[in-house]
Amino acid sequence: MPAKIIDGTAVARAMRADLEPQIAELKERGVTPGLTVVLVGQHPASQVYVRMKGKACEEAGLRSDTIRLAETTPESELLALIDRLNADPCVHGILVQLPLPRQISTHRVLHRILPGKDVDGFHPENVGKVAAGDPTGFRPATPYGVQQLLVRSGVETRGAHAVIVGRSNIVGRPMASLLLQDGPGGNATVTVCHSRTRDLPSVTRLADILVAAMGKPRFVTADMIRPGAVVIDVGVNRVDDPRKKKGYRLVGDVDFEPALGVASAITPVPGGVGPMTITMLLYNTVQAARQ
Ligand code: GUN
Repeated sequence: MPAKIIDGTAVARAMRADLEPQIAELKERGVTPGLTVVLVGQHPASQVYVRMKGKACEEAGLRSDTIRLAETTPESELLALIDRLNADPCVHGILVQLPLPRQISTHRVLHRILPGKDVDGFHPENVGKVAAGDPTGFRPATPYGVQQLLVRSGVETRGAHAVIVGRSNIVGRPMASLLLQDGPGGNATVTVCHSRTRDLPSVTRLADILVAAMGKPRFVTADMIRPGAVVIDVGVNRVDDPRKKKGYRLVGDVDFEPALGVASAITPVPGGVGPMTITMLLYNTVQAARQ
């Protein structure tokens, strides 16, 4: 039987509806949750993501601002902007889109954002809180979205062996923290693999839940998946396709079609994790406004 397709778009829609009463309640108290996104440069995928984040905020009734800075912006200018946003009471969430141009230190920028406005969950204070299971910490949107997708799709994480491929600060590492925690969507046994993992397929084949987040198009092939495993594909990769108007199409980190015959459930790309990421950013912005 082919794998069940986990519909991230539908789950995200339901979760956005669940958030509406919280937003209405804040507005009744005179608070409109506001997110400011900062984009430095012209990175093509980042431009798309930033537009989608702004649109999602507006649709949800949140205040949304996007500040676009030139590729050559000095670090000092970006830090001064963050200081202004930190001090602005109308700005509840600040997100600096990554990657940043080379002249800017990502660490210095992420450390400058007030932890209470760090809706990305990348500030060390939030990383620490999430690792320690403190619910006041902001959970990074992508792994938070994966966790919610598992919970809402009825995938049992408790006692399951979750294997994460990729150790990025944006996905792999916080994903491990969340799956390890006590509570719904947690209590998994977690293995994190990366580019130096010896005999990767022998490890991925142990997974009840396999999270592919290494950013390599169709890297996870069917032979790397244990029959019946749940496969979560976090990858969003552009591959050339002359049949498409844009000249490319999006594929995940999993070789989707063959994987369908092995997995019990799988997320598609697009329409899997992506819509959940943006939804969890809305949740974090509302959490920031409430806190
Ligand atoms: N670039 C890719 N994913 C993300 C994300 O979740 N947050 C930010 N700030 N930049 C990103």
